[in-house]
Amino acid sequence: MAVSLVIGSQWGDEGKGKIIDVLAEKSDYVVRYNGGNNAGHTIINNYGKFAMHLVPSGIFYKKTKALIANGVLLDFETLINEIEVLEKAGIKVKDKLFISPRCNVIMPYHKILDRLYEEAKGKSKTGTTGRGIGPAYSDKVSYNGIRLSDFFDKKTFSEKLKTQLLLKNKILKALGEKELNQRDIEKIYFSYFNKIKPHIKETYTILSKALKSDKNILLEGAQGVFLDNDWGTYPFVTATTVLSGGINAGSGIAPRNVKNITGVVKAYTTRVGAGPFPTELNGKTGEKLVEQGKEFGATTGRKRRCGWFDAELVRFAAEINGFTEIAVTKLDILDNFKKIKLCTGYLLDNKKTGYEDGDSNFLLKVKPVYKTMEGWLSPTKGIKKYKDLPQNAKKYLAEIERQTGVKIKYISTGEKRDEIINL
Ligand code: GDP
Ligand code: IMO
Ligand code: MG
Repeated sequence: MAVSLVIGSQWGDEGKGKIIDVLAEKSDYVVRYNGGNNAGHTIINNYGKFAMHLVPSGIFYKKTKALIANGVLLDFETLINEIEVLEKAGIKVKDKLFISPRCNVIMPYHKILDRLYEEAKGKSKTGTTGRGIGPAYSDKVSYNGIRLSDFFDKKTFSEKLKTQLLLKNKILKALGEKELNQRDIEKIYFSYFNKIKPHIKETYTILSKALKSDKNILLEGAQGVFLDNDWGTYPFVTATTVLSGGINAGSGIAPRNVKNITGVVKAYTTRVGAGPFPTELNGKTGEKLVEQGKEFGATTGRKRRCGWFDAELVRFAAEINGFTEIAVTKLDILDNFKKIKLCTGYLLDNKKTGYEDGDSNFLLKVKPVYKTMEGWLSPTKGIKKYKDLPQNAKKYLAEIERQTGVKIKYISTGEKRDEIINL
């Protein structure tokens, strides 16, 4: 039995989709266990280019089953759309995609509330993806969520929805929004439910059997460590857990089963949405990274903020998650930088300090300490063997290992499946 876990180690969009697409070849199951359709995992393979929001990125292999476990927030419309796109591209989804009935469902009022909270916060807004994630998760943890299993009994569902609308409509009305109609919601949500019904199956049971019969299980984390609700840059975070420990609650897999925990890191740093970002580059260099890295969100299309690699962040991410290895992506994007900086730690009032020493306000005040490295100024795009990398690229990667304390196992040198070095 081998359970492997892939985790984003910065602020999301590290290239988890690409790494999962590579690793899934040897996996019997690929499992999403956190987040919702705030995630956007880009895959480029023989079937085409896909932005996966809910369906696990391993669905492309014939023998690999894709599971959406209980920790994931479901958006029916996104899911149905994604299934349609996959089927159109010739990928089999029937008898391959299974969804836990324990998943909480994002309801129309969650998306409206997401927007209303952002509007109320004004300048201090989080910069959410607007998918209703925060409000849906709040309802889940305050026992007001609607689960997929509720749809199997129309009466229970209607009662639950009625209670929710009783409260939610009052809020919507008070804030000048149109109230929602129970019948309208039921009509559309049951039509969605019927479409996904063939995929609903307890994923715990599937995984439990798989563990007993020595199958390879790959867990696909969404978001990134610094968007974690507890350990990220709160309140500029997401609602669900992002850490390795989240697999237990989110899928039912016991932590002791996990063999590999791969932290995915971009060779530089990006972030979408608001919040502190110590190594952010606001000038020309930042723009160059946006342009060359095509740094626009796979979910919302927003321009990503860019900066130098922050080893202090990744050191913390490695420690708290227990990374056994890291995968460095987008090395090729740094191909034509004469000098490349790498943040080796922070100073506050001239004293050395660490990520864990403070909150978001503290992080706004720290000064990154940089090590300047010589660029390699030659193409690494598509390189598949470590020995073919330019000397300065090797030095840069060695510095990443030294500063973060974790060995590099994969180096991604392009967006396509085969553009990767496996060490
Ligand atoms: P995820 O959310 O972590 O799966 O990452 P996203 O898909 O949101 O963003 C990563 C982007 O980088 C996507 O457009 C990928 O196609 C692209 N990408 C991934 N790895 C590489 C790489 O090694 N080189 C280049 N040039 N692009 C990459
Ligand atoms: P993947 O899986 C990048 C960010 C949003 C915002 C904050 C809260 O593709 O890496 P939310 O909609 O979750 O309430 O927004 O979290 N965010 C992501 N940023 N990649 C993601 O997912 C993200 N999922 C959420 O931009 O700052
Ligand atoms: Mg993404």
